[in-house]
Amino acid sequence: MEIPILDVCDLSVARSGKIIIKDICLTINEGEFVGIVGPNGSGKSTLLLALLGVLKARTGTIEIYGNPPMSRKIQGMVGWVSQAAANLPKDIRITVRELVRLGTINSGNMFDLADNGRSERVDRAIKMTGLENVENIDISSLSGGQRQRTVIARALATEADFILLDEPLVGIDRDSRNSLLKLLDRLCHEEGKTILMVSHDLAAMRQTAHRMVFLEETIRFDGPTRNFPDLERLADLRGIEPVHDDVHMHEAN
Ligand SMILES: Nc1ncnc2c1ncn2[C@@H]1O[C@H](COP(=O)(O)OP(=O)(O)OP(=O)(O)O)[C@@H](O)[C@H]1O
Ligand SMILES: [Mg+2]
Repeated sequence: MEIPILDVCDLSVARSGKIIIKDICLTINEGEFVGIVGPNGSGKSTLLLALLGVLKARTGTIEIYGNPPMSRKIQGMVGWVSQAAANLPKDIRITVRELVRLGTINSGNMFDLADNGRSERVDRAIKMTGLENVENIDISSLSGGQRQRTVIARALATEADFILLDEPLVGIDRDSRNSLLKLLDRLCHEEGKTILMVSHDLAAMRQTAHRMVFLEETIRFDGPTRNFPDLERLADLRGIEPVHDDVHMHEAN
């Protein structure tokens, strides 16, 4: 039987003593591209941090390739692109190539002097993300989209097969956004990666994700993207009653 890449069962997570997400059940299989959407403060980043093992489960279980988060057995198998990726500090002097190379370093090989194929992994990640012409440029002179690609390239250089992204589309223009979505789609279809991506951008998610999850404290929808509820039904799921007849819920939320 195929082991799912991610298996979350009855998960709840508290922060500063307050339950932020509860009763989360989520299974993701290899090659899926799952989009998580939900309003601000609904617990999307909290869920990802729990999957990474940074936050502990209050109840329930998380298994990644059949192992708990942070377990040695899954070291290097999960890639992470954080919400703050586009806001990398501008005062750090580091080139695109150097930053991507950081992705090849882990606690097991930190003191290895030998290259062990790391340069090739860096080359490949840079090529996949289309950063060849800026690889020796300082990250401070990149555009938001290029910076986001650099952080994705770093995750690719780890050779992780399961990639978590938190709001990778924030702060980048439409063209960069579209090419980033194409890149993620390609990673999924051609490189066999499994992707879990959080975004506010409903339109972008609809266009790319195979499956959508609507999270607001708990999972209120999980299904194929084509079945994702329209805004009216979404408001229903959220228990929101219209304040004005002509009220439109913001697409982005
Ligand atoms: N360290 C913390 N201590 C207590 N509460 C926190 C902490 N960090 C976040 N929260 C609360 O947890 C809730 C969920 O936060 P989270 O960052 O997971 O939301 P999100 O869905 O990612 O939101 P956004 O769309 O703004 O990124 C929020 O109400 C937030 O105020
Ligand atoms: Mg967040």
